[in-house]
Amino acid sequence: VAAEKGGYKHFMQKEIFEQPQALSNTLLNRLPLDAESIPLDLPFSDADLRGLSRIHIVACGTSWHAGLVGKFLIEQLSRVAVEVDYASEYRYREPVIQPGTLLIGITQSGETADTLAAMKEAAARGARTLAICNVMGSTATRQAEATLLTHAGPEIGVASTKAFTTQLAVLTLLALKLGEVRGTLDPDLKAGLLQGLRELPAHLERMNALEPRILQWAQRWKDADDFLYLGRGPCYPIALEGALKLKEISYIHAEGYPAGEMKHGPIALIDKNLPVVALMPHDAHREKTLSNLQEAAARDGRILALVTEGDTGLAAIAEDVLEIPAVHPWLAPILYTVPLQLLAYHIAVLRGCDVDQPRNLAKSVTVE
Ligand code: G6P
Repeated sequence: VAAEKGGYKHFMQKEIFEQPQALSNTLLNRLPLDAESIPLDLPFSDADLRGLSRIHIVACGTSWHAGLVGKFLIEQLSRVAVEVDYASEYRYREPVIQPGTLLIGITQSGETADTLAAMKEAAARGARTLAICNVMGSTATRQAEATLLTHAGPEIGVASTKAFTTQLAVLTLLALKLGEVRGTLDPDLKAGLLQGLRELPAHLERMNALEPRILQWAQRWKDADDFLYLGRGPCYPIALEGALKLKEISYIHAEGYPAGEMKHGPIALIDKNLPVVALMPHDAHREKTLSNLQEAAARDGRILALVTEGDTGLAAIAEDVLEIPAVHPWLAPILYTVPLQLLAYHIAVLRGCDVDQPRNLAKSVTVE
């Protein structure tokens, strides 16, 4: 087993650090050269894709968070309305499937019982089905009409890491493809996002340098009772994912919240004992997020801020600021995930938790 960990202490740590390579594999042969169309291998015709009226995404756990980012990207780039459901809810809510509905099941393992059942339910009601999956030949890939593989390589740690960031990359490609075929994609935006995707593995590589600072912050806050994670726009689901990671492996209670919703509840919890992890890339939401965080700081919240390199907006109020390479704002979710994985990982290790096999959790939940 030690050899399988390739010199790392835990599979989770290995899988976090494998992300630059995993992302490269995900993107391999899927980025167009020059003005070509996006070479995404789908059995649907362009007419099928143009005829889509609605997309339903179903998933569980971390994959559900990928679905929320996917909704943002698909709606922005292709103007198809997207709903995201927990698979366990969807399967029992008699979903309304109109003609032209595509159901996307996102599942690392391809074996999660609720996700498989939700996909079946939608297919029975007439939806076309697509699986975004990491395991070739898994039940989801056999059940769905179409599959996009994430190519992250085997993920052993129970808490999902590289499967998540590669799901985000596949969803970005899919959103671009839909936008391209449907004629809603601005050529400059397309070029910018594709260039951003090409540069992502190198940017991810640079994230490793943040680890010493993250470790320091982990040491300071490892005994906290609660954590709050805040983000907006496509980084709101990343706040949810950061909180889930921490809960899963360190057993510290954590909540992710859209920063703008903080005033409707969580702000009541904020005091000097509450670490607040804030995601504030330099995007259209920055000013709003900044003012939300000023509110948190005014109530003594202890802020760990993740900002775009060179952004000093939080310097005066945050306890620590991690500078993240500048990327297209819609690719920020992929980058901003990594420090949150590392934070959860180090806190869990410092607390003596079994990082790869957290109590009560299973890698894939094949029963209801
Ligand atoms: C379990 C795992 C999570 C995972 C979820 C969905 O709860 O512990 O890490 O996100 O299942 O798994 P799937 O394989 O369907 O993505």
